[in-house]
Amino acid sequence: MSGPADGAGAKRLRSAAWFGEGDATGGGLRAFSHRSRMRQLGYLPEEHLGKPVIAVLNTWSDINPCHMHLRERAEQVKRGVWQAGGFPLEFPVATLSETFQKPTPMLYRNLLAMEAEELLRSYPVDGAVLMGGCDKTVPALLMGAASAGLPAVVVPAGPMLRGHHRGTTLGSGTDLWAYWDEYRAGRTGECEMAQLECGLARSPGHCMTMGTASTMTAVAEALGMALPGSSSIPAVDSGHHRMAAASGARAVAAVREDLTPAKIMTRDAFTDAATTVLALGGSTNALIHLVAMAGRLGVELSLDDFDRIGRRVPVLADVRPVGAFLMEDFHYAGGLPALLRRLSEVPGALHPDRITVTGEEFGAYYAQAEAYGPDGGESTVIRTAGDPVAREGGVAVLRGNLAPHGAVIKHLAADPGLLTHTGPAVVFDSYRELQERIDDPALGVTEETVLVLRGAGPLGGPGMPEYGMLPIPAYLLARGVKDLVRISDARMSGTSYGTCVLHVAPESHVGGPLALVRTGDLITLDVPRRLLRLEVDDAELARRRREWQPPRAPYARGYGALYAEHITQADEGCDFDFLARPGHNPAPDPG
Ligand code: FES
Ligand code: MG
Repeated sequence: MSGPADGAGAKRLRSAAWFGEGDATGGGLRAFSHRSRMRQLGYLPEEHLGKPVIAVLNTWSDINPCHMHLRERAEQVKRGVWQAGGFPLEFPVATLSETFQKPTPMLYRNLLAMEAEELLRSYPVDGAVLMGGCDKTVPALLMGAASAGLPAVVVPAGPMLRGHHRGTTLGSGTDLWAYWDEYRAGRTGECEMAQLECGLARSPGHCMTMGTASTMTAVAEALGMALPGSSSIPAVDSGHHRMAAASGARAVAAVREDLTPAKIMTRDAFTDAATTVLALGGSTNALIHLVAMAGRLGVELSLDDFDRIGRRVPVLADVRPVGAFLMEDFHYAGGLPALLRRLSEVPGALHPDRITVTGEEFGAYYAQAEAYGPDGGESTVIRTAGDPVAREGGVAVLRGNLAPHGAVIKHLAADPGLLTHTGPAVVFDSYRELQERIDDPALGVTEETVLVLRGAGPLGGPGMPEYGMLPIPAYLLARGVKDLVRISDARMSGTSYGTCVLHVAPESHVGGPLALVRTGDLITLDVPRRLLRLEVDDAELARRRREWQPPRAPYARGYGALYAEHITQADEGCDFDFLARPGHNPAPDPG
């Protein structure tokens, strides 16, 4: 944002354009009016005039179990802002609850990003604290803050505590899917399911597996937009209160030091964040969000960057769904700083010299960090590069005639035996059709089958719902078959697993080759060669394309219609074209 707060060095606060320069009559009629309304709000002049105004953007809501503690936690943020000599103002912003919002909060990520940007632009604000955690909230808030151009600090919501059930530890999401399959196979009864309902998610906080939330809060930290060690603190830990206060204080200092997002979120920061995602065995959703976030800052970041980085970065975090442990264990083992320290031992993996929102270089995030194991021994949760969970990062980018613009697979969470596979397709045109027909033995699904779901992309879904872990027919589950090759233009929950090819681009709704597949066609998946190929010749595909009818637009009016007109494809980050394009809007003139 160009405005009074932009430019180098010590300067006038942006908010001074609303309030005048601090004396009781400065700034003319408008400033007098704004000051009188601050008295109406109950503040003395000396409480706010001349102080950095920090907007606390809070995604708390009664409907969002991952953020249920953020209403109270905002008070700790404000405590930090006050103590550092700033003036906090809390702004409730759209809550995106991964659990409850349909068809998917991904439909609304850009709406929250727009809301965050425009609130920061239109109010007397000098900097921001971004309070989020549940999947889409952190990328949305960072996209908004990046476009607004004001200094901002992320307060990660923190993971929930470990789940518990009959003496075993449960991971939200991951074990939900696993037990549901057991129930469908007839191995888990109603009574046990009722107990599981109470054991899977049992405290405030976001999913405590390495799902999208844990991945994206780690991204915020790895970018240098959150305090070191902040992302893994359990939501209910007292340390979370202290981190919130320290983040509020840091936001005030970041305004004084003019640490705008563009100075922090550089190409080096984004490649470090991508490296971190891959070393965490993190969610495939991060690929979409990072591309979108980088796009807001004019930073080049492509799917090929992820594949290139993934080939040289080992997976070090033994956290579900790729590994065995949960975020609480990861935190006690040293959290992200410990992982970054071990990652930094891989030559060239990280860029320690870049600036962060702390005012210090990124290397300071992890220089002193240690990884701890049970009983003080070697860490089993955060591994060394010499003894990793896997030698290669967990995500591969596939191309071929079925995905000309790319597709993604989290191959570490897949059955190794299926990573090179050719089999006949069974095609579903919608998730509803798939749900209704998947258990029908007449479909003839076998271990060889390649399940295909289309119409589930950014436009077709709409919003790319997390349908990508297509269910396995109950009769195969009962025979002990736990994985099949599955292909879709959908996304997959970061807590999911299986041989699931995702984000096929372009999607079927806009005429991508996925639209031309027919049941019985052979499809080849070859992850070592990064290949996804439909074994049908070009002449036949051209014939099918001539017959293809574009589906109807999903929405007639309103936000959905705006979304449909402007959404970009998965390989481009699914931002709106008019939000992703370069350029600056003029700052509002408060006088
Ligand atoms: Fe909110 Fe999983 S449902 S993070
Ligand atoms: Mg999720």
